[in-house]
Amino acid sequence: MTSANFILLVVVLVGGIRLSRTLKKMTMNVPRAVRVGHSVTLECDYDLEGAPLYSVRWYRDNNEFYRYVPKEAPPTRVFPLPGLHVDVSVSDDHRVTLLSIGQPMAGMFQCEVSADAPSFHTEMMVAPMTIAVVPDGVPVITVDKSSLEQGGPLVSECSAPASFPALNLTWYVNDQRIDFQVPGSTSYWTKKEAKLEKSFSRLELTGVGGSWGAIRLRCEANLFKLFRANSLEIAVKPDVPQPASVLLMGSSQTIGDLRVFYKCMLFFLMTAVLIR
Ligand SMILES: *[C@@H]1O[C@H](CO)[C@@H](O)[C@H](O)[C@H]1NC(C)=O
Repeated sequence: MTSANFILLVVVLVGGIRLSRTLKKMTMNVPRAVRVGHSVTLECDYDLEGAPLYSVRWYRDNNEFYRYVPKEAPPTRVFPLPGLHVDVSVSDDHRVTLLSIGQPMAGMFQCEVSADAPSFHTEMMVAPMTIAVVPDGVPVITVDKSSLEQGGPLVSECSAPASFPALNLTWYVNDQRIDFQVPGSTSYWTKKEAKLEKSFSRLELTGVGGSWGAIRLRCEANLFKLFRANSLEIAVKPDVPQPASVLLMGSSQTIGDLRVFYKCMLFFLMTAVLIR
């Protein structure tokens, strides 16, 4: 290890320890997304290092909706915000439970903890929460082979069912995840539909025309951790009979194609043996 690397390591270690020390005081557990109409419990954990608690306050986009002050009777107070329904029976100094949450209630949720006299020390944390509409259905792939014969790309489009927010779409070619910079290009867009959004992704694979192996395409849709679905897998084979232009493409092409053919045969034989 060079001395520069060593110094870097020390800086990272010391920095990491400092970071975890400040975070130890307070942690917040707000789900990144919750389904519309469902209940959700937001949690706020803190260590006042022996000081007495003065108050815990919860805010949505800077509007206070819940306060817990142990000195008061009752200690719990709810401030009405349209669309937020606090269930007081399952809310206390560490958590607040919201019933049947409405879609406009998405926003930044903040927990603020204050110690009592003499320090009145106050800490706060904030986290975003999205109120999501989970879709019905799965993404669908359509394939356009028309430009292949002219040596153009294989163009496929994945369209997602309506949701809120729009689904994330990921392409898989022969089970390999396609990252955006890898061959060909993908593009992504969304369309509004009523209060929901539909997302689309277009994949263009170049250099497909000369290959004889079938290509398997799949599109996966995600909505945070709430929803995940795959399209049907589409197998794209070169058209039979192969257009003459491809057959005339010189010998190296043919050898490549034969190699793929033998690999496929080998794969099928091995599969057959394994199945036995
Ligand atoms: C989509 O993916 C990005 C990057 O991984 C992530 O930050 C975002 O939360 C995802 N959105 C949805 C709707 O799942």
